[in-house]
Amino acid sequence: MDIQTHIAELRQDFPILESQVYKHPLVYLDNAATTQKPWCVIRKIEEGYRHQNANVHRGVHFLSQMATEAHEEARKTVASFLNAHSPREIIFTRGTTEAINLVAFSYGEAFVKAGDEIVVSEMEHHSNIVPWQMLCQRKGAVLRVIPFNDKGELDLQAFSNLLNDHTKLVAVAHVSNTLGTVNPVAEIIRQAHRAGVPVLVDGAQAVPHRAIDVQALDADFYVFSGHKIYGPTGVGVLYGKENWLEQMPPYQGGGGIFSTVSFEHTTYNELPYKFEAGTPDFIGTTALAEAIRYVEGIGMASIHAYESGLMRYATEQLMQIEGMRIFGQAADKESVISMQVGTIHPYDMGTLLDKLGIALRTGHHCAEPVMRHYGIESTLRASFALYNTYEEVDALVAGIRKVRTLFE
Ligand code: ALA
Repeated sequence: MDIQTHIAELRQDFPILESQVYKHPLVYLDNAATTQKPWCVIRKIEEGYRHQNANVHRGVHFLSQMATEAHEEARKTVASFLNAHSPREIIFTRGTTEAINLVAFSYGEAFVKAGDEIVVSEMEHHSNIVPWQMLCQRKGAVLRVIPFNDKGELDLQAFSNLLNDHTKLVAVAHVSNTLGTVNPVAEIIRQAHRAGVPVLVDGAQAVPHRAIDVQALDADFYVFSGHKIYGPTGVGVLYGKENWLEQMPPYQGGGGIFSTVSFEHTTYNELPYKFEAGTPDFIGTTALAEAIRYVEGIGMASIHAYESGLMRYATEQLMQIEGMRIFGQAADKESVISMQVGTIHPYDMGTLLDKLGIALRTGHHCAEPVMRHYGIESTLRASFALYNTYEEVDALVAGIRKVRTLFE
């Protein structure tokens, strides 16, 4: 679908976009934090609670069977969306953060010991730093960091130098939530595999914007959040190669993860249930599948092309503002623009833009090492989704110009 031609229609799919904020039409540019939901997702959630609400995998009755079927269909939808080899490789979690914590704990328990090394990058979200730090503290392992240059591109030579016999895992973002850099994850995975090291890719900021093929990437683990791809909050996905998942112990104990339990002995359930303790958010998973059908209906290639054009236009327009500084100028970049305007504090700029109905994120974006790299504390971040328009970019640029005059 050509999004530009159908943009008015598409925007009608998202009821919140009609909102007024301080008597201004809402200009929502905080999509990297969370995306708005189309009617089909909102209706799916309502339909789930009205017609299909019963616990999954636990009942012989009609409703439970129906809910179980929908939940397992959702798993197949996610598997096919990522081109996973099998739905057994799809574990539902609460989000990206929980998915990373699951791997850090479970892979860590099975494979990491004192003196081993875990490699992350300098541009990671805290969610892809802290769980590994905790693992390192638990096991006496060491965290190694791939640096990036001032354009926001990872130093692949430094990465290759970091790999050694002690390296046990590489965890890296596909797209940086702060700089927008699209990291060369296929190349990173190739190099890591040559050294016999598995790779976890944090796909939270990539999945909403481009087609992902975990088999083509040869990723060992790939994680993302439902709410960043027009789905509900509280549902996320861990893709893991079956071979790894089979070797990893459960992350949490509870109902559903064991096939037999006695006080003397318990045996684990098969994949993927071994990693899904307790009642899953089965309404959320079916709504996530609906969101995936929605973006697939538009086409990931169309979404990528449209958003790339929008970001290029926004970058050109923003750069014309006096005092504008954009952090993250990687050759391959998408979805976010982090900036500072002169000496105006990003919080002041964000607060005043909000009064004009323009929603952006301000702060360190849970990526303090990125801030430290540039010697700053925070940025103003605009991030795009398929429903944003060129007129909204113009409103942002005009809004920043207007706020700027207040500080002259
Ligand atoms: N990780 C989200 C962001 O970057 C919350 O805004």
